[in-house]
Amino acid sequence: MTSSQAVRKIQETFDINAIYAHTVFGLTKTPYFLEEAAKIIEEKPRPFVKWVGGKRQLLKQFLQMHLYPPEKFNPKTGRYFEPFVGGGAVFFDLLPERAFLSDLNSELVVTYNVIKTDLGKLIVSLKKYKLDKEYFLRVRTQNPKELSDIDVASRFIYLNRTGFNGMYRVNSRGGFNVPFGKYNNPLICDENNLRKVSRALQNVEIKSQDYKRVLEKAKKGDFIYFDPPYYPVSKTASFTSYTFA
Ligand SMILES: C[S@@+](CC[C@H](N)C(=O)[O-])C[C@H]1O[C@@H](n2cnc3c(N)ncnc32)[C@H](O)[C@@H]1O
Repeated sequence: MTSSQAVRKIQETFDINAIYAHTVFGLTKTPYFLEEAAKIIEEKPRPFVKWVGGKRQLLKQFLQMHLYPPEKFNPKTGRYFEPFVGGGAVFFDLLPERAFLSDLNSELVVTYNVIKTDLGKLIVSLKKYKLDKEYFLRVRTQNPKELSDIDVASRFIYLNRTGFNGMYRVNSRGGFNVPFGKYNNPLICDENNLRKVSRALQNVEIKSQDYKRVLEKAKKGDFIYFDPPYYPVSKTASFTSYTFA
């Protein structure tokens, strides 16, 4: 079997995108490449937040419509920028080795950085949260500006997992005001996935900034995926575009 046949076999067997199938094949070392590929794919992280406008569920459709993955982008060598990262569905799908992620939501960005650098303490902190409406409402009133980064991150994940629909909404004074979500058994501390996310972020720079600042760093040949917030004309009309600088 040639290497391109093997890549196709991996792609078809695991129903994954061609770019990622290529990366997975590059990591397999023995003739039992399908077994090895299964283990590698099992280690793939998922977004750690539910995010309004998140693209995880839509990637498969974009794949079928040949809108995804980006043909010219090589995640092993190319630089990847995502200036409206949110839950990072495309980043976690492509897993580029050199990435620059940013978002205006500073609590989200603190959370990415704590997962990257202080995961052990974050997990300890996350384990103290309870699923209870009164408790949720008390946590909701906390002011993130008065908390440590670890507590900002654990509170952010807790509110995202237990609040209504994973929404992030603040009032005019900046206070989080999403109602309690009434989930039976939300996984507040998904330790296994957080560990995978942390590994994937090790070489990644993550900043809180306006999307326009991406232009200060991106150069010709870099890949930029823009997914700005939008007013939907229909439920599926949000996939915008990606482009090379
Ligand atoms: C549609 S969501 C991105 C969803 C993401 N692609 C995903 O799969 O989860 C848009 C993101 O843009 C961020 N945002 C809004 N205005 C921004 C700005 N001026 N600069 C940077 N990020 C901004 C929001 O905080 C939100 O996370």
